Amino acid sequence: MSHSIKLENIGCLVLEDNSSLDYKYNCSLVIEDQYITSIGSGKADTVIDCKGKMVTPGFVDSHTHLIFNDLRAEEHQLRLSGASYEEIAENGGGIVSSVESVRSASPEELLNEAKMRLNRFLSMGTTTIEAKSGYGLNTESELKILKVIDELSSAHPIEIIPTFMGAHAFPVDFKNKEEQYVSLLIEEMIPEIQKQGIAKFIDVFCEDGYFNVEQSKRILEAGKAAGLTPRIHADEFYNIGASVLAGEVGAISADHLMKIDEKGIKSLKDNNVIATLLPGTTFFLNKNSYAPARRLIDNKITVALATDFNPGSCHIQSMSFIITLAVMKMQMTIEEAFLSSTLYGAKALNMDDEIGSIAVGKKADLILWNISSLAEIPYHIADNPIRQVIKSGNSVFGS
Ligand code: NIG
Ligand code: FE
Repeated sequence: MSHSIKLENIGCLVLEDNSSLDYKYNCSLVIEDQYITSIGSGKADTVIDCKGKMVTPGFVDSHTHLIFNDLRAEEHQLRLSGASYEEIAENGGGIVSSVESVRSASPEELLNEAKMRLNRFLSMGTTTIEAKSGYGLNTESELKILKVIDELSSAHPIEIIPTFMGAHAFPVDFKNKEEQYVSLLIEEMIPEIQKQGIAKFIDVFCEDGYFNVEQSKRILEAGKAAGLTPRIHADEFYNIGASVLAGEVGAISADHLMKIDEKGIKSLKDNNVIATLLPGTTFFLNKNSYAPARRLIDNKITVALATDFNPGSCHIQSMSFIITLAVMKMQMTIEEAFLSSTLYGAKALNMDDEIGSIAVGKKADLILWNISSLAEIPYHIADNPIRQVIKSGNSVFGS
């Protein structure tokens, strides 16, 4: 049976028109089943009074490492006493330190942990996320993570887009045998993932001390041949040419970019690669080297914003806070930051036809706010002024 909902008394409806935001004041919106069917007027079975406040599309968080089983608060403390992320990783912390507990966890444990995190994402207005594997680093555990992501996607209202990231780091059992691990990725993991059809994207941490450009290229090309779309962790700590590679392999997105240079910018621009910026990571690592958002935007590169939620370098789930960092630390306007957190996040997942903005025919993924304007998001810097969240036409948080 079909159901319909009318949101009435919307004070400010945040729409998108030709890559800019457009506002409609004092209006209503109708949802039928999963979709938005009318903007402005119309009838429905159920009515929600928006009390003159703002309604926007749900956030699309296009970069998360959702599945992990440990917290690394002690690393955060070490950083506050002066150690860098790179030094901590060299001393046995970092990505590989999260691997043991994921390998020994049961799928149920991982699933239950992740469900709580998904509830938190939803309460903060995020209706779609991308989730990477990458704390298993062997065939069995990487597949275990991807299966958990697959189950979660049907067990939870948030839509989860799976990315295979076996190339997140070299596992300790492959120390000094890095080429063997690259072969394992290409010859065993990628074919098995293709067979099971449980990932949409492939990602590589192309960075000094992780995967070099040549290895990253081989891995991403193998992923492409197996039907996975490439995305890259690029220019986070050092510039080794990862953004140039992003252009070469036709990645949909290059992420981080704190150390991008002119060559990298040209490569993203010439090849239509989206720049996904993760200011939460810069902030959480206590650095000041934010990615050059303005230079990227001025070069007409599409900029998306995401959390990079993970146990080590960024334990942040709030897209409202990411928007706050974008406007306070990267000189983005609130309109740019909002578009980057919704429509351009959707674009970075190749889903902008379905989600990411409020339009007739798109999925009804909506946030009903307790505030009246976008400018109030960074103003309520440490708050979550969200009253209700609707995902695919269903009320899934608040009332
Ligand atoms: O995106 N850069 C690589 N991966 C994560 C760090 C994950 C971790 O420290 O566990 C990131 O920042
Ligand atoms: Fe990341």
